[in-house]
Parts: sequence; structure tokens; C-alpha cells
Amino acid sequence: MTMTYQFSNRVPKSDEDPVGNILKVAGSPDVISFAGGLPAPELFPVDQLKRVTDEVYDESGRQALQYSTAIGDLQLREQIVKRMARQGVQTTTDNIMISTGSQQSIDLTAKMFINPGDTVIVEKPTYLCALDVFRSYGAHIVGVEMDDDGMRIDQLEAAVAENPNTKFIYTIPNFQNPTGRTMSAERRARMIAIADKYNIMIMEDDPYGAIRFAGDDIEPVKFYDDHERVIYLSTFSKILAPGLRLGWIVAEKSLIKKFTLMKQSADVHSDNLTQHIVAKYMAEYNIEDHINKIKQVYRKREAVMMQAIETYFPSGVNYSHPEGGLFIWVEVPGNVDTKALFDTCIKHNVAFVPGEPFYPDKVTPGTFRLNYSNMSEDQIKTGIKRLGSAIKETIGESVSGISGH
Ligand SMILES: Cc1ncc(COP(=O)(O)O)c(C=O)c1O
Repeated sequence: MTMTYQFSNRVPKSDEDPVGNILKVAGSPDVISFAGGLPAPELFPVDQLKRVTDEVYDESGRQALQYSTAIGDLQLREQIVKRMARQGVQTTTDNIMISTGSQQSIDLTAKMFINPGDTVIVEKPTYLCALDVFRSYGAHIVGVEMDDDGMRIDQLEAAVAENPNTKFIYTIPNFQNPTGRTMSAERRARMIAIADKYNIMIMEDDPYGAIRFAGDDIEPVKFYDDHERVIYLSTFSKILAPGLRLGWIVAEKSLIKKFTLMKQSADVHSDNLTQHIVAKYMAEYNIEDHINKIKQVYRKREAVMMQAIETYFPSGVNYSHPEGGLFIWVEVPGNVDTKALFDTCIKHNVAFVPGEPFYPDKVTPGTFRLNYSNMSEDQIKTGIKRLGSAIKETIGESVSGISGH
């Protein structure tokens, strides 16, 4: 007799993994893939991390290999206080908890605040793995449209007013995943004003803010927060290396206490050795110099991708113009089936992530995400040329050729 497993409501009903399948197809060696969100591995400071790892083993190996506290290594938190100041947020080590990457921070925050049926308000589209987390806790997810200045604050207020059980707003204000768009300073202040008026929390997810390669810095939403309602998340994944699995949460001290309790039951604490290594790396090397190198490479790759898009895409196709981060968002007007377009692209040996999984509800057809951090400039030119041909094969030379447009 085969066993029928009695899963909890948190477990997805279907075993389908559409994004995993896309990444698998995109991973074939002939395909130029703009699908994943991978940082450039040639930029990982391997030699420096190797050196400080040896030093940690030599100087404090027994301590680094021991159990530790859920809040995380003090020296690492001290370094994060300095990094936060550069992002425009003054904080203290008691306001920081180390996490096993921002993905865990999102999960712990959702676990801490969401009862089934509670509303979470998100940008539309948004980071698909955050949607998966919110769904797993039974959240009612409400998407708010975006434009080039980020979440539409007029619609946000309407969404909050319509959903009195809103627990928090989830926002990725800088170089958003998937759109690459950034929320204006004015909207950040207005988001706080709405959260104050309706007494709701804000989860500010900021993995990309440090990687601004054009335009002026904008202070985080947390900067405008006078009532400790913003839980700010960031990570070493995009500024150092994602395989380290280290992120952090900045929040009011009593919230950090709750987070540490939640974290203890999740994984006791994040990898202590890795925390020692990153703390030592930050003490001995200037991570800001390293971030500047990343910015220079991504700035060039983004410029090459933009130039190629202008050259090879049919006229009428819209795309975002990111000033940092890893992604460009493309909108092909008309009722284009993005999955069919994806299949055509695979025949042309180029890949992207179709927009669908990034939408909490109604999907805007013809949308997809491009990543420029993980391919060389030559691959970007060749890949975008192939993509342009695939789009033209699907919709013709220009968008005006589509019936109804
Ligand atoms: C918006 C957003 N949040 C969170 C994460 C997860 O990051 P981490 O590697 O720190 O878990 C990502 C990763 O791509 C992301 O794009």
C-alpha cells in the first residue's frame, strides 16, 4: 500500500516547479541565460576569503566551531552597523540580528506576523520566493501596481483602507526584483505616512541598494521611520557571495528579541564559522572597495544590455532603466504569451524568466525579467540579438503590427 502523506496547509499542493524548470532549460550549455539572478562569480573575493578563513582557524578556530548565540557574532554586527550608516541608517548592534540570508529573514518575519487570512501588501510584480513564503503562512496577498517610481502610493492607500487586517507592506525599494525599478524618496516618505496612519508594519527588503551604479543615493524607507515600524533586511549575497548564506535584520530592540526566539527554533543560529570569516574579512579589507568593483562591472554590463536592446528589439517594446542591481524588466505590449515566447527563445538559444510567477494575482502578459550580472559583455550582445529575433518572430518588426494595438 502506498503511503498518503497528510501534509500541513503550509506545503504547496502541486509538485510543479515552473521556475526550476525554466532555470534547468536555461542552464543548457548552448543557451545564453539571462534567467537566473546570479552575481558574477569572477568577482567573489576568493583569495581574500581563503586568507581570512585560515586566520580564523588559526586564531579562534575552537570558538568559531562552537555553538553560538542566535542574535549573531558581535564583531560582524559591529561591521554591519558601519555598513548601515553608509546606507543612511544609524543603528546599534542590539538592533541587528544575523540571519541565514534574506530568504530566512523574510520567512521569520512572515512567521512572526502572519496568521492565516492576514493581508500582506506587495508590489506587483514582486520577488517570487517572498510570495511563496507569504502563501505558506496563509496570507491574503494584495498586489499594488508599480510605475517607474516604484509602488503606486495612491493605490497603496486604497489597498490598506480596503484590507483592515493588513499586517505589513512588503517592499523592495531599490532596483527591485524583478523590475529593476527604484521607489522615489517622496514615495518612501508617503509609504511611512500611510503605515503610520493605519498602524501597520513595513518589511523593507534591500539586497540590491548597495549596488547603485548611476543616479543619486536615496535613503532607505527605514530612514523615514520615526515609529520603529520598519523591519529592514539586507544580505551579503549580492555584495560578497550568496553561498555564504548570511544576511541581517535591522529592527527595534524588542523585535530583535522576538526574532532571536524565532531563529532559535528555526536553526539555532547562522553558521558561526562563516560569521567569523565575514567579520574578519570586513575588518581587514575595505568591503566598500569591493562593492565599487562590483558596481563598475555591472554598470558596464547593464549599459551593453541597454545598447543591445535598443539595437535589436522591435520598436514599441518597453523596458525599465535600472540605476543599479541586477535586473531589467521588459514589457511587450499586446497579448503576447510569454511562455510561448520563452519556447521560441530556447530555440534561439537564449533565456529569460517569464513574468508570470512574479505576480501575486492577475498576470500582465508579455512581461519578462532579464539579468545582466552573470554573462560577459560579448554574451550579452549575442544573447540580446537572439532575443530580438525571437521577439520579432513572435510579434513582427514592431509592436504596431499586433492586432488591437
Ligand atoms: C528581493 C530579494 N529578497 C531576498 C533574496 C534572498 O537573498 P538571500 O540570498 O540573502 O537569501 C533575493 C535573492 O535573490 C531577492 O532578490
